[in-house]
Amino acid sequence: MNFTPQIPNWGLDFLEKNIDKLLLYHSWLSTTGIKTGLISPKEDQFIWDEFIIHSLYFYKLILDLKNESHEIYDLGTGGGIPGVPVGIVSKKDINLIDIKQKRIFELERFILSQNLLNIYAKKEDAEQLLKTKKNTTFLMRCYIPRSNLIKILEKNLSNSKNNTFIISSNSKPFDNSNDMFHVKQEKFFINTNEYRFIDVITVK
Ligand SMILES: C[S@@+](CC[C@H](N)C(=O)[O-])C[C@H]1O[C@@H](n2cnc3c(N)ncnc32)[C@H](O)[C@@H]1O
Repeated sequence: MNFTPQIPNWGLDFLEKNIDKLLLYHSWLSTTGIKTGLISPKEDQFIWDEFIIHSLYFYKLILDLKNESHEIYDLGTGGGIPGVPVGIVSKKDINLIDIKQKRIFELERFILSQNLLNIYAKKEDAEQLLKTKKNTTFLMRCYIPRSNLIKILEKNLSNSKNNTFIISSNSKPFDNSNDMFHVKQEKFFINTNEYRFIDVITVK
């Protein structure tokens, strides 16, 4: 192995026991994922830290939130990021959503080959789901910026009330001038010295 599949302390509980399956996903991303254009060419260490470890912090947040009755949708999943790592470590059903059919076909092949029975890949328009779904936790990693999400939510406030949005972001604080949203910003390490941000947004 030409990279270190390190596990941050926050992930020890759920990551260690699933390491073999996560390494198989890593291997698939670094070969088929790159070959079929699901991800652009990246070093093995980058794929582990930025795609797999980063994704698993979404799972940590799902556990912390305890929204047991919520469905989970990963919008703009691309190569299954963060939904596939989340589905591997979780017993919950995870819906991977992308607008590109080719991406969905590749994901379906991987899901079938690994017998990941709780993960479903679907070709759908994420914007429609944001407008219509209720009692849902949406995961979004590098799909749309937080400001665009807020604009969509502002137009659909009455529908958004029982939803939670977990979205990758940067260190910029949230300017909540209209006080309609509750935003909790999480800062966490993806390896020994680099940290990332994820926002958890609920509609008040
Ligand atoms: C930058 S990629 C991010 C992929 C992945 N989440 C990641 O973190 O690497 C954005 C993905 O969103 C998908 N996408 C763009 N517009 C969409 C829409 N309206 N509905 C669903 N997926 C969409 C694209 O096909 C692409 O796979």
